[in-house]
Amino acid sequence: MNETTLLAQHAGFLPSRGSIMIDFVFVAMFGIILVLGVSIYLVRYLRMYQVHKWIQVITGIVLLVTVIAFEVDMRFFTDWEKLAEPSKFGSTTVHNLLYFHLLFAIPTPILWIVVIWRALLKFPSPPEPGPHSASHLFWGRLAAIGMLLTAVTGWVFYYAAFVA
Ligand code: HEM
Repeated sequence: MNETTLLAQHAGFLPSRGSIMIDFVFVAMFGIILVLGVSIYLVRYLRMYQVHKWIQVITGIVLLVTVIAFEVDMRFFTDWEKLAEPSKFGSTTVHNLLYFHLLFAIPTPILWIVVIWRALLKFPSPPEPGPHSASHLFWGRLAAIGMLLTAVTGWVFYYAAFVA
């Protein structure tokens, strides 16, 4: 398969070399961060615990499905290294940016599963502050920061690999 065919077959919807799935995740992360910000604002300032709970459970499920679809695409269908080849940054920098991104992208989903699982078990239903609050505040904030850093490092990698 020559280069043009390869790029055309995998063409995403953004003006970059990203595949459909790569473009989708790039855009979806803006939505996830926005919704996460709203969810934390609602629980912190408006004490809307039940809304916060369902936003987090639903975004958690959506993220899990997206991550699985993304992994299947990367492993079996899209040769991202080929798409990144023309990058001005060169293979070493692009790979290093990916490793830096993975530093956050691998632990964060695991942390999310643990935070959601523990919150569902330890907060009453409907949820309200209680003995689990201190631990949830600490790990919930870490999970939120982890997701933000996953998004930012992912956007930087996307730019270096598929735009530059
Ligand atoms: C990954 C998922 C989640 C994240 C990242 C998250 C994050 C947070 C954060 C950062 C806060 C503190 C806001 C502040 O600064 O005051 C918070 C509070 C809270 N969250 Fe979550 N949360 C998640 C899932 C859940 C779930 C599933 C539930 C319910 C079952 C829940 C129930 C609560 C409650 C009740 C509070 C208020 C605690 C208090 O103020 O004492 N959270 N969450």
